[in-house]
Amino acid sequence: MNVGVKDVAQLAGVSIGTVSNVLNHPERVSAATRERVNSAIEKLGFVRNAAASQLRAGLSRSVGLVVLNASNPFFTELARGAEDHASAQNISVLVGNSGEDPRREADYLDLFEEQRVRGVLLSPVGDVSARLTRLRARGIPTVLVDRQTYREDFSSVSVDDVEGGRLAAAHLVSLGRRRIAFAGGPTSLRQVRDRLDGARAALREAGLPGPAVHETHAMTTAAGREIADALLRLPVERRPDGVFAANDLLALGIMQGLLFRGSLRIPEDVALVGYDDIDFAASAAVPLSSVRQNATQLGRTAMELLLAEASSGPGFTPRQIVAQPELVARASTTGQDPAHA
Ligand code: RIB
Repeated sequence: MNVGVKDVAQLAGVSIGTVSNVLNHPERVSAATRERVNSAIEKLGFVRNAAASQLRAGLSRSVGLVVLNASNPFFTELARGAEDHASAQNISVLVGNSGEDPRREADYLDLFEEQRVRGVLLSPVGDVSARLTRLRARGIPTVLVDRQTYREDFSSVSVDDVEGGRLAAAHLVSLGRRRIAFAGGPTSLRQVRDRLDGARAALREAGLPGPAVHETHAMTTAAGREIADALLRLPVERRPDGVFAANDLLALGIMQGLLFRGSLRIPEDVALVGYDDIDFAASAAVPLSSVRQNATQLGRTAMELLLAEASSGPGFTPRQIVAQPELVARASTTGQDPAHA
């Protein structure tokens, strides 16, 4: 039997409005009446219809978050930062994983639109401007996270990935590495293109040829092991002496391949630097140097921007927030682990 508010009101001997107040504004109801209504709710096993109450109240208690790859600790940390801020406002975060697939991304945006969430945080696969404009027309604001938007009409929170790529390559050059390779992909991802552009700028500034580019189909440890195999197949004189991997998962896969399939030494034979500085970087077999993005802060800041826009309405002025990356040098490039130096 589907128990409704009317059944609860009848059993408790109060009006439907009083039951609604107990559910949405308990401070407006005396303790004795609250007790009677809650007792009736328990006896009948009443469960509120969140979607219906959201529609009536006009404000959902949920935010949608779509990440590129839920198995990447970077996005886990980003989601945690977003949730930390949301839960303090009694808001839940519904997390979807696009897997870098535009169709799955569109399906999640459809779902969140149907659920009439309060807003959407999105680490986009491609160009989603038209879709975000439609969402906003339905009263659902979006903030792009982990992606800089060059349009003024949406807020975004990201790290300067061009600067991050420059830092990584300049670090390898400062250690005397001259045959530098870049591993990352697909280059359809803006993050990958920007990091590669930054690395190219650093090598140009040093008067060196651009990096040998090894494009990958994904940013995973498995893809990193495939890159290691490709590097090991190169003649020794063409093998890179420094590798910049576009994220830490790739770098960890490359490290595993070079150390255990190729019996190479890191950094003596090949210096290796990643990107994100996920927790596993510092605890890798050879502690991994990495360009740090504060994923938790990115998620928290994006949620703050989103809830500010959701509560202010059409007059809100979108903001593009770009944080600066930081190079964390460890044994995989310097030969020394700062934690134990
Ligand atoms: O999703 C690929 C990469 O882009 C992640 O590792 C993180 O660096 C993001 O910015």
